[in-house]
Amino acid sequence: MIQWDGTRVLLVGGSSEIGLAIVRRIASERPVRPYLLGRDGARLAGAATALERSGCARAELDLVDAEDLDSHAAAIARAFERSGGFELVVLAVGVLGAQQGLDADPAQAAEVMRVNFAGCGSLLLHCLRALRGQGRGTVVVLSSVAAERPRAGNAIYGAAKAGLDALAQGLADGTAGSGVRVLVVRPGFVRTRMTAGLAPAPMATTPEQVAEATVTALGGRANTVWVPGRLRYVFAVLRHLPRPLYRRLPL
Ligand SMILES: NC(=O)c1ccc[n+]([C@@H]2O[C@H](COP(=O)([O-])OP(=O)(O)OC[C@H]3O[C@@H](n4cnc5c(N)ncnc54)[C@H](OP(=O)(O)O)[C@@H]3O)[C@@H](O)[C@H]2O)c1
Repeated sequence: MIQWDGTRVLLVGGSSEIGLAIVRRIASERPVRPYLLGRDGARLAGAATALERSGCARAELDLVDAEDLDSHAAAIARAFERSGGFELVVLAVGVLGAQQGLDADPAQAAEVMRVNFAGCGSLLLHCLRALRGQGRGTVVVLSSVAAERPRAGNAIYGAAKAGLDALAQGLADGTAGSGVRVLVVRPGFVRTRMTAGLAPAPMATTPEQVAEATVTALGGRANTVWVPGRLRYVFAVLRHLPRPLYRRLPL
């Protein structure tokens, strides 16, 4: 790895509001050189300018579409090569899709599954292999409380996130003790453009609160962090509620 006196952060989903809040939060404490990987060059350029204004070094930008699985290996290899490695990777790609279960638009439902599970899963595997190659580093995976127990309304998003979450948890165990760490972040409802227009769920948070919890968790040893933290206890109960009861909850 090329030495750099700071933290090199690869943000996959380089225009994600939560991902960018995490980068800004880290930059509030130490020098950060971001590398933004995403599908929209103009949005990435805007995000890079905003990060620079927050005190980050000028970000490098590159394009990748989560749905184009064949392009992932080259995009991740290019990022690690150009940057000389990363201390931290944040995987923040995701789409919410319509919250209508079986009545969701079939094309949109398929996109949610392709992006959130197959696409993110593939990107996660490539990032983790690269981190293992350099011998150390952490990947933060943006999962969701929906992964713990999908609801009827968000069955498609929840199932795709459950798949990604399970993959990340398994890989966290597989890399334990190797110098490479996987931190799974499970936020509840976060006010970002992803949830714009939706009525906030109870215990709704902001990207800044997710960033704060993520950075705190990075300083510890946990593999999973809930945001806000009390959702962990709420879902410990919800997870075990009998189905007929769970089904009737106004969630
Ligand atoms: N907001 C919430 O309530 C909430 C709660 C729990 C978990 N999360 C998770 O947190 C992560 C970040 O979400 P956010 O709230 O920050 O939303 P966001 O601002 O909409 O970020 C989503 C990111 O995913 C990217 N993306 C979507 N489809 C893509 C594709 N096919 N290829 C490449 N990039 C793609 C978007 O790029 P474009 O700019 O090009 O669209 C954007 O950078 C997601 O994984 C989300 O599921 C969000």
